[in-house]
Amino acid sequence: KKPPARKGSMVDVPQELLAELNTLEQQFAVSGEQLIKISEHFAEELGKGLSKEGGNIPMIPSWVVEYPTGKESGDFLAIDLGGTNLRVVLIKLGGDRTFDSTQSKYKLPEEMRTTQKPEELFAFIAESLKNFVDEQFPKGVDKPLPLGFTFSFPASQKKINSGVLQRWTKGFDIPNVEGHDVVPMLKAEIEKRNIPIDVVALINDTTGTLVASLYTDGDTKMGVIFGTGVNGAYYDVVKDIPKLEGKLASDIPGESVMAINCEYGSFDNEHVVLPRNKYDIQIDEESPRPGQQAFEKMSSGYYLGELLRLAILDLHSKGLILKDQDMTKLNKPFIMDTSYPSRIEDDPFENLEDTDEILQSEIGIKTTVQERKVIRRICELIGTRSARLGVCGIAGVFKKRGYKSGSVACDGSVFNRYPDFKEQAAQALRDIFGWEKGEASSYPIVLTAAEDGSGAGAAVIAALAQKRLAAGLS
Ligand code: GLC
Repeated sequence: KKPPARKGSMVDVPQELLAELNTLEQQFAVSGEQLIKISEHFAEELGKGLSKEGGNIPMIPSWVVEYPTGKESGDFLAIDLGGTNLRVVLIKLGGDRTFDSTQSKYKLPEEMRTTQKPEELFAFIAESLKNFVDEQFPKGVDKPLPLGFTFSFPASQKKINSGVLQRWTKGFDIPNVEGHDVVPMLKAEIEKRNIPIDVVALINDTTGTLVASLYTDGDTKMGVIFGTGVNGAYYDVVKDIPKLEGKLASDIPGESVMAINCEYGSFDNEHVVLPRNKYDIQIDEESPRPGQQAFEKMSSGYYLGELLRLAILDLHSKGLILKDQDMTKLNKPFIMDTSYPSRIEDDPFENLEDTDEILQSEIGIKTTVQERKVIRRICELIGTRSARLGVCGIAGVFKKRGYKSGSVACDGSVFNRYPDFKEQAAQALRDIFGWEKGEASSYPIVLTAAEDGSGAGAAVIAALAQKRLAAGLS
């Protein structure tokens, strides 16, 4: 079964509703011209973030000061915190650009995002680690296992095995962690449980994605996450990072490189270029950190379902859809995660029967075919905007570095699972750079599915960190 054409047929949708849908189309549209303007502003802002004075985009130096060679080898543990799940992975780096991994996923309890006790979060991670290590090494280990901690939040790093949380993103809101180094917090819980682990590196998921993809394939320009959050990492030349002046070990010459975790979810917090609509403004105002992560709130997975919910509620409050339906569930913020717009767009049936089933059984509302077509169209608008805005970070980095071509390793639930996302993203890049129309894989910038960044990437970075430590460097 093939999904009906995007946009669907709207012939039998009442005029008034169609008019509202038109307004929504305008509110979510981003033209090619706007994309060009946004990506140019992006490139400037990335540069500002590297200056001594700093800018709106954090541009965090990762202390990963080399490219992987592909020869890194050994056994490493990695954990990944920052999306919907906590992942624990054992990675065996083969030393020949290959790796094997075994992983367990632990669903992060929803209330953990906003627990009042930070120890609870780190205890949960340590418990999960303990279970995993007991399972994988029933006979114990000879020496502590090196661990790469993928902590996917903006964390300032003075060295590779530390990270001071600047602020929570993606709906996390736990007191007494912002402004503190999270590594000792994790270590304390590990020590309490006597787990034989040595935390050797703290890593952002984007940096992990970049490095993992370089480990297996030497031609990657960026690591990008389109998931719960949106962010990218790339290598810049040390002499072009003015804010590093005076902070570098003497063995690092100006010509060498350092991976930068951009944290560009915060792009345009001052609202200069992004076309925010009333739903974006509402999401921001009702979030735990209003005024932060403007770019992320318009494009990342954590917010797509919420945008859909707000748009449906809006049409309902105007008396245009869902008359006499029980709105109790739909009135609950964040009841719809990204899987809603994603599954609705994926519905293969002309009359959207899958959507009918999803909305009835999970949200408790009965819909007419026309209502479902309208809801489906809203999903398309939200998904398309996410892809079109999402690539502006990539275009910004390519412009900033003067790269004309290259591959971008991408990961995250939206990239991997949102219908049509990859095609829409490629189309948006084409709008920005003016390439001739063709297959997405023939364009100068190619978005590829990343190697397991938070696992393999964390392992490779942990290996690089160990090597530097062994050589007496920091
Ligand atoms: C948020 C986080 C960032 C992370 C991204 C993707 O933007 O602040 O650190 O890389 O989400 O997970």
